[in-house]
Amino acid sequence: MSRLEGSQQSFWKTEAGPVHYAKLSKDLEVDTAVIGGGISGALTAYLLAKAGRSVAIVEARDFSAGSTGGTTAKLSSQHQLIYHEMLQRDGLDVARKFYDANEEGRKLIESISKEHNIDCDFTEEDAYVFTQDGSHTESLKAEAQAYDEIGIDGGMTNSIPIDFDVSSALVMRKQAQFQPVKFIHGLLKAIEELGGKIIQHTRYMDKEEHDDYLVLTTNTPYKITCKQVVLATLFPVEDPHSFYSNTMEPMSSHLTAFESDQPFGTGVYIGQDEPRRTFRGAYDGDQPILIVGGNTHRTGNKSSTIDHYEAIRQFTKAEFGLTKMLAYWSEHDMVTPDRRPFIGPIEEGNDKMFVMTGYNKWGLAVAGTAAQLICDLIEGKENSYAEFLSPQRDLPKKEEKEDQPSILEQAKQLSKGEAKRFEINEEASGMYRDHTGDIHYVNLTCTHLGCEVKWNDGDETWDCPCHGSIFDGTGKVIAGPAKDPLKQIDVS
Ligand SMILES: Cc1cc2nc3c(=O)[nH]c(=O)nc-3n(C[C@H](O)[C@H](O)[C@H](O)COP(=O)(O)OP(=O)(O)OC[C@H]3O[C@@H](n4cnc5c(N)ncnc54)[C@H](O)[C@@H]3O)c2cc1C
Ligand code: FES
Repeated sequence: MSRLEGSQQSFWKTEAGPVHYAKLSKDLEVDTAVIGGGISGALTAYLLAKAGRSVAIVEARDFSAGSTGGTTAKLSSQHQLIYHEMLQRDGLDVARKFYDANEEGRKLIESISKEHNIDCDFTEEDAYVFTQDGSHTESLKAEAQAYDEIGIDGGMTNSIPIDFDVSSALVMRKQAQFQPVKFIHGLLKAIEELGGKIIQHTRYMDKEEHDDYLVLTTNTPYKITCKQVVLATLFPVEDPHSFYSNTMEPMSSHLTAFESDQPFGTGVYIGQDEPRRTFRGAYDGDQPILIVGGNTHRTGNKSSTIDHYEAIRQFTKAEFGLTKMLAYWSEHDMVTPDRRPFIGPIEEGNDKMFVMTGYNKWGLAVAGTAAQLICDLIEGKENSYAEFLSPQRDLPKKEEKEDQPSILEQAKQLSKGEAKRFEINEEASGMYRDHTGDIHYVNLTCTHLGCEVKWNDGDETWDCPCHGSIFDGTGKVIAGPAKDPLKQIDVS
């Protein structure tokens, strides 16, 4: 199969360029260690440092290497359609509080970017959910009714401010968009100025618990001693009693960046028709860019990632006449049963270990509120979202997880960049030919909790359907919660 044109990396990461921070190179003692250098970790480390605590932020890969660097980057309280569902299931107070949590988070991010002059292309935008074929007009109207009840600024509209045909649309006014990687880079500078320690390419591995402190081990010879640790690792890298594994589902989406000969115009957009499409404008210097994505599915469901990118490419050509694809990438996020994130103690009564997870593909705005909540919990301050976002709250019953179909195949000759599943001694195994021609054989059992990883042909990675770990073709960890590489196997 022909490979795709363009770079296989998020447009945001390429445009912002790398940021250079050192690995952990000596033992460290801080009040709070924040693990994970996405928006959750960076905002939390910033607020803690601002509150006068000594803090270290520790990232396994590059900062923004996770979902934050691969989003559509809408800062929006409009999470597709959600408020009607919340009103029906949880009532007005919950739906309104959810909206408030997102609004406050977005405003906090805006105020931080202004205070520190972070050049992150922040612009206020109206957010739209649309239907092109009209089949979702009634759902949009029900959501508009929920907006009225909650007091959300927005409602139904028949026209949108770009050249794109819709049958009807629902607008939420005064939302925003930004460049997430540039924002994180600016935030890291602010954390450093506040005395925080910034540590990159250092993976949290384990913890030793003592009465009133923790010692964290890493994939370096050095340790971090701290009073609290915040796991802002998308999926928590500690999971007592498998609560998070049993409660959340990872969902993947695919994004592309296209060069355009004219600016996209205003607004951020998401479709309700299947397959769902999300898009917004951006710039690379003066060059107008269109970010288009969608094709969301359960992580590791064996669908072809190349097919997802091709479907998005065809949509972009048909709707916007754009053909020059500059970049394509995939990311995932965790989905909770009530569509509210899990922010708080990792388990009942634990005052040393906190989690930030379960953002349901819409974590950017609410991350501000989540970070403030974690900061207040650590500082022993009241916070009106403590119970609302607590991982220990009552949850609706979760539907049974689908069994992952397994298809046995014998290994065949592979082209460079291709991989294949096979079985050896009844163990699921994979072979991958890298771009130098070498073949790597790995056991496909995820080193986190043992699910079978699946091949992602677009990104050339082994992806875990259970909690979203990602390994490169040779088995090395790209994204946790797994900490160890896939086991190499000897097929000779
Ligand atoms: C395709 C896509 C589009 C999206 N679009 C939007 C959008 O437009 N608006 C919106 O609000 N949300 C959007 N989201 C969701 C949003 O991107 C996420 O909710 C958010 O980025 C989560 O941020 P985070 O900081 O919690 O996690 P991440 O950004 O994933 O950060 C976690 C970090 O932890 C690090 N890590 C993991 N394990 C370890 C370890 N053991 N030691 C050290 N570090 C570790 C990882 O390397 C990673 O950098 C989208 C999601 C996807 C998948
Ligand atoms: S990420 Fe948990 S089993 Fe793979």
